[in-house]
Amino acid sequence: MTQIPIFELKQVSQQFGKFRALTNLNLQIFPGERVALLGPSGAGKSTLIRLLNGMLLPTQGEVWVLGRNLARISPRQLRQVQRHLGTVYQQFNLVNNLQVIHNVNAGHLGRWSLMKAVVSLLFPQEVETALRALTQVGIPEKLYAPTEELSGGQQQRVALARVLVQNPEAILADEPISNLDLQLSREIMDLLKEMSETRGKTLVTSLHSLEFACSHCDRLVGLQQGRIIFDVPTVALSQTMIEELYHVQEITYN
Ligand SMILES: Nc1ncnc2c1ncn2[C@@H]1O[C@H](COP(=O)(O)OP(=O)(O)OP(=O)(O)O)[C@@H](O)[C@H]1O
Ligand SMILES: [Mg+2]
Repeated sequence: MTQIPIFELKQVSQQFGKFRALTNLNLQIFPGERVALLGPSGAGKSTLIRLLNGMLLPTQGEVWVLGRNLARISPRQLRQVQRHLGTVYQQFNLVNNLQVIHNVNAGHLGRWSLMKAVVSLLFPQEVETALRALTQVGIPEKLYAPTEELSGGQQQRVALARVLVQNPEAILADEPISNLDLQLSREIMDLLKEMSETRGKTLVTSLHSLEFACSHCDRLVGLQQGRIIFDVPTVALSQTMIEELYHVQEITYN
C-alpha cells in the first residue's frame, strides 16, 4: 500500500521581494518520520517550517499538508489543518504574564469555543489534562506558576506540554534547543523523540546541532542557500555532505 505523505512540497520557491529564500523544493515527509532540517544560518530552514505549517504560502509551487493543497483551501479549512500541526519555536512563544496552565491550555484553542477559552482564563478548565501533560514533561509543580518566572528549559517544557495537549499529527520545531544548555537540550530532544516514538507523531525540526540531528532523527535534509543539497537517512550521512553543507563560503570565495 502506498502511504500518503503528511507533508509534500512540489516545486516550491519562496520569494521575499527580490530575494529568493527557497528555490524549487521537492519534499515528501511521511507519517511517523523524524526529519531534521540542517544548514547554515539563512539557508531557509525557518522559512520551510513556516511553509509547512501554513503560516506562509509559497510564491511558487504547492504545499500539501494532510492531503490538502494549502493554497486551495479556505481560511477556515486552513485552520482545521493547522489544528493537526503543533509548532514549537526557539523563543517558546508563550504568554509570559499568564500562569503556566493557561499556556498549556492554549493547546485546546483550535477545539474550544471562544466562551470556553475566556472562562478558562478565570476558572481553568481541564486542569487534569494540563497536569498530565506537565507531568510528562517533568514539571507538574509549575501548574499555577507565572510563566515568566520559569527558566528557559522549563518554558520550553511548557511549550511541549501545550503540544501534548493539542495532540497534533505532526510536530514542527524550529530550533527548539538553541537557547538551552547541553543538558536541557538533551532532555528536550529526548521528549520530542519520545512524543514521536510513543505516539507516532511526525517530527520536523530545524537544528544547528548536527549531533542531536543524528542522535534523534532518522532522516536529514540539508539546505543551503534555499536549495536542498541532500536528503538522506541519517545512517547515510557522510563527511563530504557535512563539509559541503557548512563550508559553502570557503568554496564560493576560494
Ligand atoms: N519575511 C522575510 N522577509 C524578507 N526576507 C526574509 C524573510 N524571512 C526570511 N527571509 C530571508 O530568507 C532567508 C532564509 O531565512 P530563514 O529564516 O528561513 O533562514 P534559517 O535557515 O532559518 O536561518 P537561521 O539558522 O539563522 O535561523 C534569509 O536570508 C532571510 O533573511
Ligand atoms: Mg531559522
